[in-house]
Amino acid sequence: MKALKIILSIFLIGLIFGGCAYNWIVEEEVIDPTDPDAPEVSFSAEITPIFSAKCTSCHTTGNQMPDLTPSNAYSSLNSSRYINTSDPASSLIYTKPSPTGSHVKYSESEAALVLTWITQGAKNN
Ligand code: HEC
Repeated sequence: MKALKIILSIFLIGLIFGGCAYNWIVEEEVIDPTDPDAPEVSFSAEITPIFSAKCTSCHTTGNQMPDLTPSNAYSSLNSSRYINTSDPASSLIYTKPSPTGSHVKYSESEAALVLTWITQGAKNN
């Protein structure tokens, strides 16, 4: 009986301290656009894949503007119509697909990446 209690206690203590660690759930990482130390967002490696996954079915060459195919996306977006580096959050390429808008939407982490990329100067990197 005593041994059983000890075993039970060890089991319970283990459960209390180890049982509730939800570390197998991979959280979606959201970059902080206001963080000056945020790692530099790469247009070609991080932004164009979002466009290819969600936008180029319509925004393709010769179709709906802006052309968001990987080879043309930067030159299509590089204008004050789509990007406003002095007020990044007002940029059309950020506001149009915002998670709260009515267009095809970025996820929260995609929106944060786009905003961070604009905040960092909207470079062709
Ligand atoms: C199902 C087709 C479709 C998809 C997918 C789509 N769009 Fe659009 N988009 C349109 C149409 C049609 C318009 C023009 C009408 C309007 O402004 O709503 C438009 C307009 C825009 C505009 C404004 C263009 C301008 O010059 O006024 C932006 C910016 C834009 N889309 C970005 C995106 C982004 C970024 C994605 C992907 C996250 C996306 N769209 C996905 C159809 C689409």
